[in-house]
Amino acid sequence: MREIIEFSGGNVAQALAEICTQAKTAAAWKAEDFQTEAGQKNSKIFILTETENNKKTVLGFCAARFVVDIAEITNFAILPQMQHQYLGTEIFTHTLNFLKAQGVKEITLEVSSKNKTAQGFYKKFKFICVNKRKNFYNIGEDAQILKLNL
Ligand SMILES: CC(C)(COP(=O)(O)OP(=O)(O)OC[C@H]1O[C@@H](n2cnc3c(N)ncnc32)[C@H](O)[C@@H]1OP(=O)(O)O)[C@@H](O)C(=O)NCCC(=O)NCCS
Repeated sequence: MREIIEFSGGNVAQALAEICTQAKTAAAWKAEDFQTEAGQKNSKIFILTETENNKKTVLGFCAARFVVDIAEITNFAILPQMQHQYLGTEIFTHTLNFLKAQGVKEITLEVSSKNKTAQGFYKKFKFICVNKRKNFYNIGEDAQILKLNL
């Protein structure tokens, strides 16, 4: 069984950090970063889990911060071997619906100009590029700032 639940701290943080390591182009959050983020008032981390034979596996997550009517997607990834099966679409849609219900009107996020997969994904959700930041990651990669009006 698959379900989307909220991460509010605990051991799962290690599995989330492992997804960041494996997914490579996700923000490189460590377990303690997930714990800290989950403790913030205006932060939400949704996780997608699969339970089989009483064993729960975390397949991906989507993290957002929101203040009044503005939100930012702060990190987002699906386990590499589980990508391209619309799991990203599932958890991202869930996150957008949650933000909308909070009264959010504008969502921004930052993506590397080299990350064509994620760009293709966000384009499908009708995000548009509103800005570019040169050498944003200090490794010779520019960042695109994408925005969606809900
Ligand atoms: C971005 C990410 C979360 C998408 O998750 P996913 O589960 O693979 O996405 P989905 O299967 O729901 O894909 C939905 C749509 O995204 C787009 N997409 C997915 N993979 C793509 C690719 N390799 N190239 C172009 N577009 C792609 C497509 O439009 C796809 O729809 P389609 O197959 O009908 O054309 C996943 O690629 C990932 O974890 N990447 C590594 C971490 C990362 O870069 N995070 C974003 C940081 S800004």
